[in-house]
Amino acid sequence: MQSTVSSLTEKSRYFIEQEEKYSAHNYHPLPVVLTKGEGVFVWDVDGKRYYDFLSGYSAVNQGHCHPKIINTLIEQAQKLTLTSRAFHSDLLGEYAEFITNYFGYDKVLPMNTGVEAVETALKLCRRWGYTVKGIAENKAKIIACEGNFHGRTSTVISFSSDESSYKNFGPFMPGFEIIPYNDLNALAIALQDKNVAGFLVEPIQGEAGVFVPDDNYLSTAKKYCEDANVLFIGDEIQTGLCRTGKMLACDHENVRPDILILGKALSGGTLPVSAVLADDEIMLTIKAGEHGSTYGGNPLACKVAITSLTVLKEENMSALAEQSGKLLRSELKKLNSPFIKIIRGKGLLNAIVIEHSNPDAAWEFCLALKGNGLLAKPTHGDKIRFAPPLIITNDQILECVEIINKSLSVLESF
Ligand SMILES: Cc1ncc(COP(=O)(O)O)c(C=O)c1O
Repeated sequence: MQSTVSSLTEKSRYFIEQEEKYSAHNYHPLPVVLTKGEGVFVWDVDGKRYYDFLSGYSAVNQGHCHPKIINTLIEQAQKLTLTSRAFHSDLLGEYAEFITNYFGYDKVLPMNTGVEAVETALKLCRRWGYTVKGIAENKAKIIACEGNFHGRTSTVISFSSDESSYKNFGPFMPGFEIIPYNDLNALAIALQDKNVAGFLVEPIQGEAGVFVPDDNYLSTAKKYCEDANVLFIGDEIQTGLCRTGKMLACDHENVRPDILILGKALSGGTLPVSAVLADDEIMLTIKAGEHGSTYGGNPLACKVAITSLTVLKEENMSALAEQSGKLLRSELKKLNSPFIKIIRGKGLLNAIVIEHSNPDAAWEFCLALKGNGLLAKPTHGDKIRFAPPLIITNDQILECVEIINKSLSVLESF
C-alpha cells in the first residue's frame, strides 16, 4: 500500500504519530485528523472542510452536532448523568414509554454499544428458547448469516465468517449456525432443527459492503420463522433510524422483528446508546439481576435518545434519505465510469465496488476523494460506502458526485 502519511502537514502527522504510538493498532484510518463537525461537514486540524460520507458508520444520521441534540446533551449533563440501575431515575420510564410507543413494542432493554445490544438480544432469544419454546437446556441454536457483522465480542465473532474478525480469538461460543445470506432455502433447511430459537439478520449487510437482499427475502424469512416458532431478530444498528429511506429497513417489507436491535444514531453520534425492543413474552423472561449494564439506561442517554428520535421524525429524515439516495445512485450511474463495477444501496446506505487491476485502488481512490474534500473509506478491499448524513441537500449531492468524478481520474494512472 502506498505511503499515505508523507503528504500530510506537520500538525496532522503529529496527531497521527501520537495516536499510533499510544493507541492500539486495531484500526487502519484514512490519514486525516478531524477536529470539528457540523451537519454534513467535518474539518481537519488544518482547517480543511470535507463532506462526511461515512457518518460514523451511520451513527450521525441527523448530522454532526445537531443543535437540538447537543442542547439536550448539555442541559441534561448539567443536571444528572448517571444513577446506575441500583436506583430509579425520572427519565428511564419516560424514555422507555417514548421508544416503545415509537417502535410499537411492549418493552425496551437499554444498553450502550451496538454489540452489547446484540449480546442482549442473543441472551434474550436463548432465554425465550428455554423458558417459552421449551428447548432442552444448553441446546438452543441461533442462525446467523454468512458475511454478517454484528460487532466484536467473543460471542459475536464466534459466528462471523470474516477471518480478520475471528482468527486466533478462539475458542468460540457454540450454538450458532451460519447460513448463506439472502438464501431462503438454506434458512428453511436450518429451521427444521427444533432447537433453533432465533434467526439473527441484518436487513441489509452494511459492513460486508451494503448487500441488499432480494425483494421479499425479509418478509419470507419472517414467515418461515413464524411457522417454525423461531424468533426473527433484526439487527438495525446500521440500517435503522431512517438510514435506508424508512424508519427501519425492515419496514420496506412490512416486517416487524420479534427482537429489534438499535444503536448508533440513537444518540445522533454523541454517546454510545443502544436498545433492544421486544414484547413481554420475550422481554420478561429476563428477571432482576440476570442482565444489565452500569451505563445502560442512564439519564443522559435517555434524554439524548428521545431528542435524537424526535429529530428524525421532525425533519422527515426517512423521506430525505429515500429521495437523496435515488438521486445519488442515479447521478453515480450517469458517470458511467469503467472503475465503478457496481452501485448499490437503499436510501442513503450505498456502496460502489471498484473495478481495477491494482488491489489498492479503492484505498487510493479514497485518498483522492479526501484530497478533493470528501471522506469515505473502503471496506473489504474494493467496496466503498457512500453514506452521508441524511440532511444532505440535492445540491450538495451533485457537488459530491462532481468530487467523485474528479477523483476517479486518479485511477487512470494508478
Ligand atoms: C449491523 C451492526 N451490528 C452491530 C454493530 C456493532 O456496533 P458497535 O460498534 O457499536 O458495537 C455494528 C457496527 O458497525 C453494525 O453495523
